[in-house]
Amino acid sequence: MTGVFITIEGVEGSGKSTQIQRLAEHLQALGLPAVFSKEPGGTALGRELRALLLSPHASGEKWCPDAELLLFYADRSQHVANLIRPALQAGKIVVVDRFEDSSRAYQGASGVDEKSLTQLRELVLGDFRPDLTLILDMDPESSLRRVATRNAALGATFTETRFDGEAMAFHRRVRERFQIIAAHEPDRVKLVPAEAEADQVATALWQHLAPCLQRAGFQVS
Ligand code: TYD
Repeated sequence: MTGVFITIEGVEGSGKSTQIQRLAEHLQALGLPAVFSKEPGGTALGRELRALLLSPHASGEKWCPDAELLLFYADRSQHVANLIRPALQAGKIVVVDRFEDSSRAYQGASGVDEKSLTQLRELVLGDFRPDLTLILDMDPESSLRRVATRNAALGATFTETRFDGEAMAFHRRVRERFQIIAAHEPDRVKLVPAEAEADQVATALWQHLAPCLQRAGFQVS
């Protein structure tokens, strides 16, 4: 049996971490074999790239959009080869917090053109795609308010704020780009409203997940 590849996407503060935690508990309670990971930083070398990508550099210099895209893809390539594919081959349910659609949404919103996004995807991933992608859809105005509250609670030691500081207009473009991806690939990608209570969002996510897991031969009840 080969496993199932699930990705979870959404704007910052859309509740991904909470939902992924719940999903981990749910799959464990069902006794299903699952592996959880994230991008950037799903491997040891990827975590070094994550620090390069997300921590502000002392010089104040920022990555240009193409360089940033290449670094996200370096992380992804390593992640697919060393973690995702081996786990799928071992028959696991692989759940990844952000994947290729984040590059399409964020680096696209930063100005990278569609052709470059598609060419790099083909080069690195070929036709490798998630079996199911769940996008937590939320107005960035409310989701960024959540991020601000969370960061305040974490205090001055929290350094990974590079993207959180970007303008609201950028996050609106990111959201729109996620919505467009969902509209273009309705079989693979499901848009899940994320403003509701966490319980309701978890139920909506499970309604998409359960049939996907069942199709792959996993017992979900
Ligand atoms: P992270 O701290 O993991 O935040 P979140 O909880 O919102 O996922 O930060 C990941 C950041 O990297 C987030 O701002 C989205 C961005 N990103 C891209 O711009 N392109 C990508 O391909 C990926 C995977 C992430």
